[in-house]
Amino acid sequence: MPTIASGFKLSNGVRIPCIGFGTWQIPDDDELVAHIRDAIEIGYRHIDTAHIYGNERGVGRAVRTCGLPREKLFVTSKLWNTDRGYDGTIAAFNRTLETLGLDYLDLYLIHWPAARGEPMTWQSINSGTWRAMEDLYKSGCVRAIGVSNFLVHHLVPLLARATIAPMVNQIEFHPGYMQRPTVEFCMKRGIQIEAWSPLGRGALIAHPVLKEIAAAHGVTSAQAALRWCLQHGAAALPKSLNHERRVQNADLFGFSLTEEEMQRLDNLPQTGFSGLDPDHVTF
Ligand code: A2P
Repeated sequence: MPTIASGFKLSNGVRIPCIGFGTWQIPDDDELVAHIRDAIEIGYRHIDTAHIYGNERGVGRAVRTCGLPREKLFVTSKLWNTDRGYDGTIAAFNRTLETLGLDYLDLYLIHWPAARGEPMTWQSINSGTWRAMEDLYKSGCVRAIGVSNFLVHHLVPLLARATIAPMVNQIEFHPGYMQRPTVEFCMKRGIQIEAWSPLGRGALIAHPVLKEIAAAHGVTSAQAALRWCLQHGAAALPKSLNHERRVQNADLFGFSLTEEEMQRLDNLPQTGFSGLDPDHVTF
């Protein structure tokens, strides 16, 4: 019987637990540590943070004090936009490790493909950033490297210059915002999709189609949305500050969606989109 700790296999053979605990917008305090420790007790083995979330210190504390050996957990962080370029990336990675209080990361991602004020230079900046990511990977201090919010036209130039292809692309992915061209491109090239905001930041919960499909299986809308991600081969990073909902979001293996249900969810009109278009993010 699979669990949320069961992994998808990345192109380099590393396994990534299929459900991760998202920590965006959770402040860096004792409560964060308690939420993560509770998630780990429930069975979560994958914790997702980023430098810009401002909570790496608490994430690291939870990982170091949860009682599990470090190698049982999968920890991701992300490089912020203002740290890009070769030297900036190496320095930012080292700061992240220090803040987490860990001696390696499982996954490090470039958070966004292009930053404000770089309309002409983002390709070469990404290329320098990616060279640093490759060097970090080769040095053994990170088990897998990847990108986040990269669309096809961001991936093509990066892949053209890369000697190691990204293993992961973490994007917004949920019923109502499936980003089919990016997903298909990544799947063809063995780049694992990770879904951020798999519940559309909660906006999907009340959607009538999702509710109807969930009810047919005796599960909640959240469970149906997460199951949809998994059946598409995407790892998902739901976030909840509530114990019962965390338990629910981990209980995904007693049912499966039919082909017809998958297609109905694939074809939902745009719902729950964050509004964050990687070509136009202004931070
Ligand atoms: P809460 O923290 O009160 O549980 P996403 O992961 O797509 O960004 O969505 C996060 C939002 O979805 C949060 O507001 C969270 O609220 C809510 N949420 C998470 N899990 C569930 C669930 N199982 N049922 C309903 N709402 C959920």
